[in-house]
Amino acid sequence: MAEILVTGGTGYIGSHTVVELQQAGYTPVIIDNLSNSDIGVLEQIRKITGIKPEFHQFDLCDEAAVRQFIADHPSITGIIHFAAYKAVGESVREPLKYYHNNFFSLINLLNAYQGKPVNFVFSSSCTVYGQPDKLPVTEAAPVKRAESPYGNTKQIAEEILAETAAALNNYNIISLRYFNPVGAHESALIGELPLGVPQNLVPFITQSAIGKRGPITVFGNDYNTPDGSAIRDYIHVVDLAKAHVAAIRLLEKGNPNGNYDVFNIGTGRGNSVLEVIKAFEGSTGVKLNYQIGPRRAGDVEQVWGDVSKSATELGWKAELGIEEMMRSAWKWEQYLKDNPLKD
Ligand code: WQD
Repeated sequence: MAEILVTGGTGYIGSHTVVELQQAGYTPVIIDNLSNSDIGVLEQIRKITGIKPEFHQFDLCDEAAVRQFIADHPSITGIIHFAAYKAVGESVREPLKYYHNNFFSLINLLNAYQGKPVNFVFSSSCTVYGQPDKLPVTEAAPVKRAESPYGNTKQIAEEILAETAAALNNYNIISLRYFNPVGAHESALIGELPLGVPQNLVPFITQSAIGKRGPITVFGNDYNTPDGSAIRDYIHVVDLAKAHVAAIRLLEKGNPNGNYDVFNIGTGRGNSVLEVIKAFEGSTGVKLNYQIGPRRAGDVEQVWGDVSKSATELGWKAELGIEEMMRSAWKWEQYLKDNPLKD
């Protein structure tokens, strides 16, 4: 079966996608510079699937290295491009680091395929919608001005991809707009490895529960939502990984919508911060310490996705609910305690 290049394939979403690709009969080949992941993930993937993926360590900002790699791998027919910096706060402090890394890597990959047919799946984000006027938000909703350089890299990358696809028909591209990926593989052999203090809710919850962090702060309880805390569409990382396999399949079949398309990847349901805390407690039996704090700058009040286009046109739907997300995240945190990977 086809070889698929997975950039950032040792990262959180990348590693889960490598597993799903292997289990669907594809041969994923990973490029990662290990800037935010651990080489040990390759062996963890082997424990799950029995196959240690081919791995190449280099920086995608190195144009010559990208060209050489593509020339050496003529059987690659698809690319899933995860490799990018993703910390919102850091991007505000170091915007050039984000623009340099996230754009050069993307452009180098696209350039290496000038004239050659390639299927390309891009990691985008619901952050492109900002606070939508209408919920659930559809793919047709207007893109709002980004709140951070990180968010801006996703918006501009989508524009680069749409314009490239419009101009050159050898590129067949899908951008997947992820809502909030959480949870871990059911084996608890791979999961999220946040660097330092987690900025995202679920890794903070699991680290707080295991005693690595203090109480959780709920960022705001005065939003215009039923319980006052902010609402997001949390999506299990394994479901999200499967969406990438579906996207590759659609591109292989030929997307009737043309050579650039966008899909929301969420559950179509929203949960508030307080509901997530309750779901964690309910599904794990572990009590959490939390306190109410002020709103976090740049946060939107509520967002969840309309996922009907993904269901009908991508043939993909999330299957796992919030309880399973919490259970698997907790199982992974407990595994990490005894088997520390990078921290
Ligand atoms: C979820 C909710 C917080 C931590 C961000 C990026 C997005 C995407 C995913 C990544 C919010 C609240 C959080 C805490 C809290 N990109 N919260 N206490 O902000 O929706 O999305 O991550 O690559 O682009 O913006 O996710 O997990 O940080 O927050 O109350 O300690 O939990 O305010 O309402 P967010 P999150």
